[in-house]
Amino acid sequence: MKQPHSDALVFFGATGDLAYKKIFPSLQAMIKRGHLNIPVIGVAKAGWDLAQLRARAKDSLEKHGGLDPAAFERLSGLLRYVDGDYSDAATFQALKKTLGNAERPAHYLAIPPLLFGKVVEQLAAAGCAGPGARVIVEKPFGTDLTSAQNLNRILLGTFDESRIFRIDHYLGKRPVHNLQFYRFANAFPESYWNRDHIESVQITMAEDFGVQGRGKFYDQTGTIRDVMQNHLFQLAANLAMEPPPRLDSESVRDEKVKVLKAIHPLTPADIIRGQFHGYRDEPGVAPDSQVETFAAIRLELDSWRWKGVPFYLRAGKNLPVTCTEVLIRMRQPPTMYEGFDLKSNYLRFRISPQVTIAIGVNVMALSDNAAGGVNEMIANHHPETGEMDAYERVLGDAMSGDATLFAREDYVEEAWRIVDPVLKSETPVFEYAPKTWGPSPTGTDVVPPGGWWNPEVTP
Ligand code: BG6
Repeated sequence: MKQPHSDALVFFGATGDLAYKKIFPSLQAMIKRGHLNIPVIGVAKAGWDLAQLRARAKDSLEKHGGLDPAAFERLSGLLRYVDGDYSDAATFQALKKTLGNAERPAHYLAIPPLLFGKVVEQLAAAGCAGPGARVIVEKPFGTDLTSAQNLNRILLGTFDESRIFRIDHYLGKRPVHNLQFYRFANAFPESYWNRDHIESVQITMAEDFGVQGRGKFYDQTGTIRDVMQNHLFQLAANLAMEPPPRLDSESVRDEKVKVLKAIHPLTPADIIRGQFHGYRDEPGVAPDSQVETFAAIRLELDSWRWKGVPFYLRAGKNLPVTCTEVLIRMRQPPTMYEGFDLKSNYLRFRISPQVTIAIGVNVMALSDNAAGGVNEMIANHHPETGEMDAYERVLGDAMSGDATLFAREDYVEEAWRIVDPVLKSETPVFEYAPKTWGPSPTGTDVVPPGGWWNPEVTP
């Protein structure tokens, strides 16, 4: 169900960090592509005026991605600014006035979720949430199942589901979308894409940096809420879903929800949490923090296709590399090649930094006394210049009314249902040394058969 294009973009939190790092660069990129020609209204409580917002936008572009003078000129022309408190009805009356005749504003809440209720209520009271309006919200959507249900109630009180766009910017990444494309645009994967041939699935999202000044946010969030429940679950859903009958947003999203419905809630035995040494000294972090900066989990899917195939998901800060990669390990065939050290075949999908699809195969060495080994058949997509940034894609899609790349109400609630039990139980946090692959406590089942695949990144 595609909807008509928005006729104004309103972004709350215009003076904040997300706007600075992601939104202004995405807006400029849209202008360069000819995709943005509607008023862009920043709202914040900073005591600023439009000139200050323009200066901030300029500074943001200079630091993040580069300023294009002609595109910036056009962006400046589209920018408007409303200053005021989110509790004050006058702020929203000023917004209404600035919106003028716009009937289909997209309200982007780049603000802490605690403020969602207040803003949505005020939007409705001021007449800014009419039938053509839509709302775009950031992740993490809530902090657990109950808070996500509350947020959904608040948003659904004013906007129906088709007008709510919950961002998970991982969905805006082309290589993530390519996981589905690989499966459903090619003939051969389907023949082995099941429990008969696949032994396990691993997904690693590694980052070689720490919390980068976001200690306060991170210490209230942790890895499970920050990236596991959203980004990594989306990767798993793309890998595990059934082919949708059609490519419209609801048919695709229905299949993803079905994947989550088949997943058992996590128990303490399904998770390892870690914290890098030095995290507690970060500004904003509690000196006795028990928050994880690393998590590895094992998921079980109770479905016809996947029963008995464990999915291992792992993410962490301060690991040896920055890389997101999927490894699908195949079952070994019965073999008569004694004396050969045969390995499991695998499929490797690198999402970033490069984009790669590789198939690991056993090959015989040419000399008689060598044992052979695993070689990779590689299909490589090099990053193309001009590749659309994930934020540009999701913001553009929200404005053009295409909900495919957004998390639906039932999806976010299912995702929280899976992680909720371990968020509430106090599982241990193991310390790990920075630039290592996280803790490896003994006696855990959260290790794939054949071991973890640690991605290597070469420049
Ligand atoms: C964000 C998380 O959602 O995703 C960050 O809050 C993380 O902690 C980031 O670093 C990773 O996204 P990307 O696109 O830079 O890989």
